Amino acid sequence: MKDLSTLTGAVHHDRIHDSAVKHVTGRADYTDDIAEPAGTLHAYLGVATVTHGTIRAMNLDRVRQAPGVVDVLTARDVPGVNDISPTGRNDEPIFPDTVEYHGQPIFAVIADSRDAARRAAELADVSYDVLPHATDALSAQAAGLPQVTDPLKLERGDVAAGQATAPHRIKARMTVGGQDHMYLEGQIAFAIPGEDDDVIVHCSTQHPSEAQHMVAHALGVPLNAVTVNVRRMGGGFGGKESQMNLFAAVAAIAAKRLHRPVKIRPDRDQDMTATGKRHDFVIDYDVAFDEEGRIHAVDGHFAARCGYSSDLSGPVTDRALFHADNAYFYPHVRLTSRPQKTNTVSNTAFRGFGGPQGVIAAERMIEEVAYALGKDPLEVRRANFYGSEGRDLTPYHQQVTDNIIGRVVDELADSAQYQARRAEILEHNAQGGILRRGIALTPVKFGISFTATHYNQAGALVHVYNDGSIHLNHGGTEMGQGLNTKIAQVLADAFQVDFDRIKITKTTTEKVPNTSATAASSGSDLNGMAALDAADQIKARLVSFAAETWGVTAEEVRFLPNAVQISAEVVPFDTLIRRAYMARVHLSAAGFYKTPDIHWDRAAGKGRPFFYYAYGAACSEVTIDTLTGEYRVDRTDILHDVGRSLNPVLDRGQVEGAFLQGMGWLTTEELWWDDRGRLRTHAPSTYKIPLASDRPRIFNVALAEWSENRERTIKRSKAVGEPPFMLGISVFEALSMAVASVADYRVCPRLDAPATPERVLMAVERLRAG
Ligand code: MTE
Ligand code: MOS
Repeated sequence: MKDLSTLTGAVHHDRIHDSAVKHVTGRADYTDDIAEPAGTLHAYLGVATVTHGTIRAMNLDRVRQAPGVVDVLTARDVPGVNDISPTGRNDEPIFPDTVEYHGQPIFAVIADSRDAARRAAELADVSYDVLPHATDALSAQAAGLPQVTDPLKLERGDVAAGQATAPHRIKARMTVGGQDHMYLEGQIAFAIPGEDDDVIVHCSTQHPSEAQHMVAHALGVPLNAVTVNVRRMGGGFGGKESQMNLFAAVAAIAAKRLHRPVKIRPDRDQDMTATGKRHDFVIDYDVAFDEEGRIHAVDGHFAARCGYSSDLSGPVTDRALFHADNAYFYPHVRLTSRPQKTNTVSNTAFRGFGGPQGVIAAERMIEEVAYALGKDPLEVRRANFYGSEGRDLTPYHQQVTDNIIGRVVDELADSAQYQARRAEILEHNAQGGILRRGIALTPVKFGISFTATHYNQAGALVHVYNDGSIHLNHGGTEMGQGLNTKIAQVLADAFQVDFDRIKITKTTTEKVPNTSATAASSGSDLNGMAALDAADQIKARLVSFAAETWGVTAEEVRFLPNAVQISAEVVPFDTLIRRAYMARVHLSAAGFYKTPDIHWDRAAGKGRPFFYYAYGAACSEVTIDTLTGEYRVDRTDILHDVGRSLNPVLDRGQVEGAFLQGMGWLTTEELWWDDRGRLRTHAPSTYKIPLASDRPRIFNVALAEWSENRERTIKRSKAVGEPPFMLGISVFEALSMAVASVADYRVCPRLDAPATPERVLMAVERLRAG
């Protein structure tokens, strides 16, 4: 094992996460570690105990009289607009008049300690006129609940004609579960009031500008009165793209009203019940194909449990359709979404942002085709990969021009010895024992860019102080993924200085305005380019200063490690900076970047929504116990494409973490609502994320070192945060093969996700029953 602490280097080299030591020694500051000023108060949310109903009366006397309570906030106490919907649809009140899910916050208590606030919140006496509820997408549709936003349709070719030419056709339904984010650090906001309308909010958010926007909206003040700060998050995974809005707004309202600092931090149960999750889907697919396993037509319908409000459900369900092709060309295709309103917490972004739910549908269809024809699923996959002209158009009419999936899959199949191991596993299963094995190699192709084109912009602020130290600020947020490390590497490379010379600072709306969420895996793509732009501006000023002062041409000025060569003379970086400062050279710059060449016409379902694609493949082998349904992952091999990696060790960490999180989504993580509409899996006691011991026994992870982004991205790298999440699908399909073995692979098991041991057992039993 390499000693990471000694690893140095600018871009394309391994470099330890800048906060790694602080993370593991407890010295990294999170929002809850900020020293509390004297007089800090604590808020806690009071929640509804019905799933759907109008609030008839709310008696909060006992809450107000409880020890330590200072104030209580209700809908009437919101000074501005009582809404925090991120897309401006006005469908997400901070505190509602009509309760739309069990556990929905309806008031907040402010007390002198968190414990006092939490106890007092239990004392409300609320009566409701109870209304009927529907918690899942199908029953909600049947009950006539509307969609939370406009559905999307993607269409190319003529599905009926494609079906007519195909000798085979399979229609089926699959349900795919949701997922809780389970970030280590939960939601939190800490608001400190200032003079006039001013307020500073420290919170755990992937989207400081949106938190700023929501706080301003709720307070009825302009954006310039609100500052949002975030040094780092203890994980976000999409769960802090919009879900912190509630906490930021409540803390800020209370702080301004009471002129005291106010902090709010829900406990884990409330964090799980009162914040949105990954959308679960019901997918109806209809795939038409020929003897060779080539797909002729796909008709897919994607209904999602969106919860009571739109939140990000529009773009999430859109992205599911954008990825329902995964790496496969569908000659004729129609894909439709149904963002269904339900009486549950409003679902939100989660790593992959709907993409995984689309990809798994594609992979299921491939499996169906393979089982129907008695072929190796990998052969069917290869037969359907995007190819050259005529087979390179996506369902949204973007041409796939950077396709490397064939090479990635071939190399992985070789290094993982897929064919030999599959043959050996088939032989093992043919013995008919209790333990059955399965292997699957699945690809991923993931589109990079926000599909809302205007989000694809970023800013950075770089100062060079006159001692030669550098201050870096950008609009992205750090949630453990290593974004700050990567951007500091980009800057160190640009100035050719040691990494340690760069100070990474907290994200704040005061330094870089109008930022986008750190999401869609685009953090380093966008902010890296913005930081580089700032560095280039400062370097250009230094070069012209040096050329003028030394009387040489600009071409004779070169940046060397910690120095600048000016003609024959080598001047230390610090010396040049000092001299530039004395000569009144401006040593600070604001950088900006916007992704070129992307556009998307949602109404027409056409465009180039993605700047490029990231590719990868995973091969997983599992063993299941056919008597209990229990299983383990014996081995996983991954080959993933990150272009020219900015930092291979961090990227491998992202690939490993994403794979495991994807595997958890499809295996052990199950969300379950009872018939009263209560989420009963609301704590780690009832909701199982993978443990370290669940990771593959053998785990070989490699980056495609030969890959280079064809587009002019930051140092030709590719985004890495989300794409490898979908590599977890290999585990699901390997489980499916092990299950299928009990009926000699004649039928494709109808396995829903998550494939918990219980579901695996039921699938085995169903096959055995014939
Ligand atoms: N990695 C860690 N350690 N923690 C996280 O919260 N979030 C993921 C991914 N990797 C996350 C993570 C998600 S959902 C996204 S969109 C990206 O990181 C965001 O960061 P990036 O754009 O800088 O990759
Ligand atoms: Mo990631 S789901 O785009 O925050």
